[in-house]
Parts: sequence; C-alpha cells; structure tokens
Amino acid sequence: MFITLEGPDGSGKSIQVPALAEFVRQLGYDVLTTREPGGTSIGDQIREVIMSMKNKSMNPRTEILLFCAARAQIVSEVIRPQLEKGVVVISDRYADSTLAYQGYGHGLDLKVLRGILDFATGGLTPDLTLLLDVDVETGLSRRQQGGGEWNRLDDYALAFHRRVRDGYLELAAAEPQRWVRIDASQAPQIVQQLMQEAVLRRLRPKV
Ligand code: TMP
Repeated sequence: MFITLEGPDGSGKSIQVPALAEFVRQLGYDVLTTREPGGTSIGDQIREVIMSMKNKSMNPRTEILLFCAARAQIVSEVIRPQLEKGVVVISDRYADSTLAYQGYGHGLDLKVLRGILDFATGGLTPDLTLLLDVDVETGLSRRQQGGGEWNRLDDYALAFHRRVRDGYLELAAAEPQRWVRIDASQAPQIVQQLMQEAVLRRLRPKV
C-alpha cells in the first residue's frame, strides 16, 4: 500500500510521519518512509539545487523538471521495489505536490503537468493521500517559528501559498476515494489520531 502525505507549508506533515509509521508497524506491516524532494542520494542532491537561496532566478519549468527528476529516481530505486515486496510506503509529499505548487501555485497547465508526472512515475498513484490542511497564515507562521530552515520556496508570496492550498482542496474534492482531508490546525495528537483512523479504514490489521 502506498500512502502519501500532502499539505501546504507548515501543515506539520513531517512531524507526523514517524508516529504513523509506527502505527502501521503495529498493525503487522513492514513500513518504509520517504520524503520528496530527496529520499535517494541523487534526489538529495537535486533537493539542494531546488531549495538553495542561491537559485532565486530558477524558472518554474526548471523547478518542475527537477522535482520530477528526483521523483523518477525515488520511484524506480525505492518505492516500486518496496511496494512489490509488500512493504507499506509512506511518502512525505509526492506527485500531488507538483500539481498543487507548480500547477495551482505557479499557474502551469495541469494537463501538461499530469503528462510529465505520468512519465516520471510510470503512472504510480497513491492508494491513500492524507491532506493535512491548514490555512496559509497559520502554516507560514509555523514555518517561521519552527526550527526548520527557511528555504527559497517559503519565500514565495502569500498569494502563491493561497493558490497552493486552494489547489489541494480542489484535488481532494475531485478524487474523494483517494484523499482524506484532515484539519491540521488541531493539536498534533488529534491530527495523528485522525490519520490513523483513515489508514485503518483501508488497511486490515495483520496481527
Ligand atoms: P517540505 O516538504 O520540507 O515542506 O518542502 C518541500 C517544498 O517543496 C515545499 O515548499 C513544497 C515544495 N514542492 C513543490 O513545490 N513541488 C513538488 O513537487 C514537491 C515534492 C515539493
């Protein structure tokens, strides 16, 4: 089973991953967690290029191709082989991030993006996508206060981040069988509980 976590910046996805992975392990499954961009040696090098404050002149098309290059690598090197072995893969971001950020955020053609994503992933789609939804002001103030490093993408204008959030809501509404929206402005323990309930509705305990 392939589970992805999505959400605007500051939605708190990353802090939720270890507890969710542990929960799935307790159900009797082998679990692998990954994150995008990155998650492989090649992907981590690409991540640095994407995030660097040195690269402020990066064209949105360059950005897409870099995200998709990192994704092609992790899908072929890690995600597909693990899924084939029956491992539950939990990814912190995946293709929907490209639709939300580069599509809705930067206004690039969604149909073209879907074609590029399909090429990069070989058509691999998540079985379950958890949308940790938070309003833009809350998300960005969490990012500014939280210890994480401020990167080039955080620096985009507020209007960009609003389009990203609205894009996520639209993607989730279009495919309700795959997406579960969780109100991530709640306490982290409540968010975790809702995530676990969503997983449990789809994954039968083995033990
Ligand atoms: P984060 O996962 O640490 O929040 O940072 C990743 C940043 O990269 C975040 O701002 C979202 C952005 N991003 C895209 O714009 N497109 C993508 O395809 C991915 C995976 C991430």
